[in-house]
Amino acid sequence: MSSSLQSLFQKALVVLFTVTFVLFYVVHEKQLNRHSLEETTTPAQITHIDRVIRSEIITAKANSILNDRTSARSALLKCSPENHILFLKTHKTGSSTIANIMFRYGDFRNLSFVLPSFTMLGWPHRFHLFFAHHSISETPNILCSHARFNKRPMNRLFPKESSKYITILRNPVDNFESVFNYMELGKRIGLGNNPDSLQLFLERGGIPFTMMRKINYEWLLVRNPLLHDLGLSFKFYQNLTAVNEYIQFLDKEFDLVMIMDYFDESLVLMKRLLCWNMDDILYLKLNDRQEEEKNVALNNDIRENIKRWNKADVLLFDHFNKSFWKRIEKEGDTFEEELATFRQRATKIKQSCVTNETRLQFLYAEKYVKGYNLKHDLPEELRRLCEKMTMSENTYLKYLRGKQKKKMRLIEMGPQNYTELSREMKEDEETWDSANDLVYEPVNLAV
Ligand SMILES: *[C@@H]1O[C@H](CO)[C@@H](O)[C@H](O)[C@H]1NC(C)=O
Ligand SMILES: *[C@@H]1O[C@H](CO)[C@@H](O)[C@H](O)[C@H]1NC(C)=O
Ligand SMILES: *[C@@H]1O[C@H](CO)[C@@H](O)[C@H](O)[C@H]1NC(C)=O
Ligand SMILES: *[C@@H]1O[C@H](CO)[C@@H](O)[C@H](O)[C@H]1NC(C)=O
Ligand SMILES: *[C@@H]1O[C@H](CO)[C@@H](O)[C@H](O)[C@H]1NC(C)=O
Repeated sequence: MSSSLQSLFQKALVVLFTVTFVLFYVVHEKQLNRHSLEETTTPAQITHIDRVIRSEIITAKANSILNDRTSARSALLKCSPENHILFLKTHKTGSSTIANIMFRYGDFRNLSFVLPSFTMLGWPHRFHLFFAHHSISETPNILCSHARFNKRPMNRLFPKESSKYITILRNPVDNFESVFNYMELGKRIGLGNNPDSLQLFLERGGIPFTMMRKINYEWLLVRNPLLHDLGLSFKFYQNLTAVNEYIQFLDKEFDLVMIMDYFDESLVLMKRLLCWNMDDILYLKLNDRQEEEKNVALNNDIRENIKRWNKADVLLFDHFNKSFWKRIEKEGDTFEEELATFRQRATKIKQSCVTNETRLQFLYAEKYVKGYNLKHDLPEELRRLCEKMTMSENTYLKYLRGKQKKKMRLIEMGPQNYTELSREMKEDEETWDSANDLVYEPVNLAV
């Protein structure tokens, strides 16, 4: 064999090996991928979906394969689930549903939360550390209760380099309609509580600023509610330079700005950013208004006027809606595929958990929202998940506060246990009359 023929033969061998290897790899990865897709859709698996303590490596692997098959290996090394998250809640944007996702994620893994004493972390004031219910953790995992954005104290609890900042917006027309009617702003201004009050409000040209100061805190959402929650002062509402600068600032502060109008897309983006499992983002819509409270028929004139009144929010929304779609484009083809799988799975979990009849769920005072009825006879594990998925925000917060309190007690008690602690606490309530063999001389000080 001549040497050139020999080297050609060697080259051919190398090529053959390479092709075989690549083929093997691709087929293998495809199988893995198909396997993970099937796994995420069979009903039998649904009974196991809150078995979240699955190996993180498997999760990361499934994620990375879906994300980007060609760089599955490097992604495998790069991507590990994010456990330090600040989710900045905004009003009437589906943020309670997202908070429930965060609650479950942290709850199932025993992560620590920055919790409010009741519902809000000092909102409508800008966030400060002292608003947090006492907590043992200097480096909490999740903050997802209503807190108005405040960079410095938030960065202290959630350092930017090791945390993810996420929020959610909604198109300002539907958002304002929802805020206005949900907060019953019409009634509060004396325009009545009928569907016309929003129109009357706009016909009047809104309200002057002087009127806002006098009234209840819900009022603070009467103009540009999104930017309010994101921390912008009223004094900048009519300053274009300041509004634009603030939008640029938010763009740098947040790792992901979701859009409620594209809710499922938002969640899939979030899952990818956080390197979570698809099961982690399953949801049932929470805190939804009853149908009769919804003002569906907004004519064009009203819609345009809502935009005029909330112009800063319009600028904010347009900016982030644009970057949202650019980001999805960059995610590539696998995004649509994953979105479709997620939707199937979300429908399935809903069918598995709840009946198709809603009920009234108490929120506060005279406020009720749509609630769910769980199906009867759910298997234990699934029931646990369904209960948590449909749990109202306040109930979940109360549960989490209890859980963190218990954890603190256990830490304080060291190796001793709860029974002992409660015995210790009971001891101080027992009367000293329970024994009498130590005789005390009567105390009787004569003056
Ligand atoms: C969470 O804490 C509970 C109670 O201490 C424990 O039983 C459970 O195994 C923990 N779960 C995880 C994922 O660490
Ligand atoms: C508008 O905001 C910019 C940037 O914050 C500030 O420099 C400027 O003074 C503001 N203009 C007015 C009229 O307040
Ligand atoms: C958001 O951006 C997309 C893409 O540019 C556009 O089609 C859509 O109308 C925008 N959504 C809203 C609610 O404005
Ligand atoms: C709800 O489900 C029941 C039976 O599962 C069905 O008969 C009924 O038509 C459903 N109602 C609606 C509004 O889908
Ligand atoms: C708690 O402490 C009591 C008394 O020391 C002991 O009998 C019990 O087994 C302990 N329980 C647990 C779960 O450790």
